[in-house]
Amino acid sequence: MADDRALDVDQLRYAQPHEPIGYEPFRQSYVLPAWKDSRGLYRKRPPRDLGTARQTDKTVYWSSEVMEREWERVWSKVWLMVGHLNDIPKPDSFMKVDRGPESVLVVRGAGDSVRAMYNVCQHRAARLVTRDFGTAKGFVCPFHKWEYSSSGELTKITDRETFREEALCHDLNLPQVKAAVWRGWVFINFDDAAAPLESFLGEDYIELTKAYDFENVVRIRDVSQVWPANWKTAHEAFIEGYHVQGTHPQLIPAVDAYHAQTDLFENGHALSVYQFMSPAPQFIASLPDELAEEHKIFLREAGIPEAEWPTHWRDVPKAIIAAKKKKTGYVIDYDKFTEGQLVDDWGFGLFPTTESFLHPEGFFVQNWLPHPTEPEKCIYQVQVYAVPGIGELPSFMAVEGADLSGKTILSRTYLDDDDLDNLGPVIKQDKALVPRVREGLHSKGFRGAVYSEQEIRIRHFFEEYYKYMRD
Ligand SMILES: [Fe+2]
Repeated sequence: MADDRALDVDQLRYAQPHEPIGYEPFRQSYVLPAWKDSRGLYRKRPPRDLGTARQTDKTVYWSSEVMEREWERVWSKVWLMVGHLNDIPKPDSFMKVDRGPESVLVVRGAGDSVRAMYNVCQHRAARLVTRDFGTAKGFVCPFHKWEYSSSGELTKITDRETFREEALCHDLNLPQVKAAVWRGWVFINFDDAAAPLESFLGEDYIELTKAYDFENVVRIRDVSQVWPANWKTAHEAFIEGYHVQGTHPQLIPAVDAYHAQTDLFENGHALSVYQFMSPAPQFIASLPDELAEEHKIFLREAGIPEAEWPTHWRDVPKAIIAAKKKKTGYVIDYDKFTEGQLVDDWGFGLFPTTESFLHPEGFFVQNWLPHPTEPEKCIYQVQVYAVPGIGELPSFMAVEGADLSGKTILSRTYLDDDDLDNLGPVIKQDKALVPRVREGLHSKGFRGAVYSEQEIRIRHFFEEYYKYMRD
């Protein structure tokens, strides 16, 4: 293993945002150009040498045995981000959280407290609740009308006198699941012995997300869909920008995926920053010197009058940063952020698969969850949260007619398996690609994935994954 500290991070800093630079060994990430971090708020984490081995262990993508082991060893051991306090705004508000084969009820208590319990009647195993969100003093099993309080205590047994006392001497309250709240986000952990949530999140994640207004957001989009591939196959397509040129060619003029900044954190977490409004250098020669439609969208969203638009795409990020910094009395204090966070896509990944694209105005949170029974399917979920009072919503949120009042609790939309139209144009392209990979993984002619340094987060994911999976 190379000594990370021996690398001079300043050597990686490139002076001009569009200067073409080739990748060199271990230069798996670039640092914000200086003008995107004028106050030095962002401290680049050193690159890591994660080797060059092929991912020859293909059974992790389809084996039922591996799937069961993953559930026990990975998904049942880590903290899972499952929603936000504002999804359960008052005492006795609840949300149903489905993860793999389990279903959990997360209930708001007094103040900011939450509790979580298994969503299963202790009598004959019926699921108690099928709604995703609601408010209730308690839960009644539809099978035989047993009743539980909102804290999970069994409060009523129908025809109790027909049970012998000995049959009822067991603990019949709903078993609790560990739950915690961090800056508005609700997490659960199926492992009673789990270390505290903040130690799982780690210092890097906590430090680099501190400017965002996590506590004060409203959920404005919530979509769930079954995807035809293992959760890892799908997730891997979202933790590298290398595929933008093949899968999302329309983004080439607007996103510099080549110069993504990647920081690898402890516990399998990571950050990928994609520079928006900045084409990748290898495409610059083929681009006209004018604004692309994507640039115009961002300029309009920043409220810059058309007469003041720059004429060259190169000047768009600076124009938008200046416009945002000039805003006074706005609901967001842009001064808390470093300049890059005002224009770029800061994608924070929490192990195993919670990927949150953070912008000051709101967050695009995605998950690829294990299917309850089938290893070659997964549950894709996206939740979009917005800061109330921001005015017109940025296009990245892909939400029309959103209610930011916080007065109604948005229900979850379950898309049909073959519905591509309601995913948005970019996710639609990713979803269409995923089954091709699932098929190819089964071929004897495929001997295991090789990864570029642009795809280092996949190696980083597997490094953490095998810590849990290996004996
Ligand atoms: Fe993609």
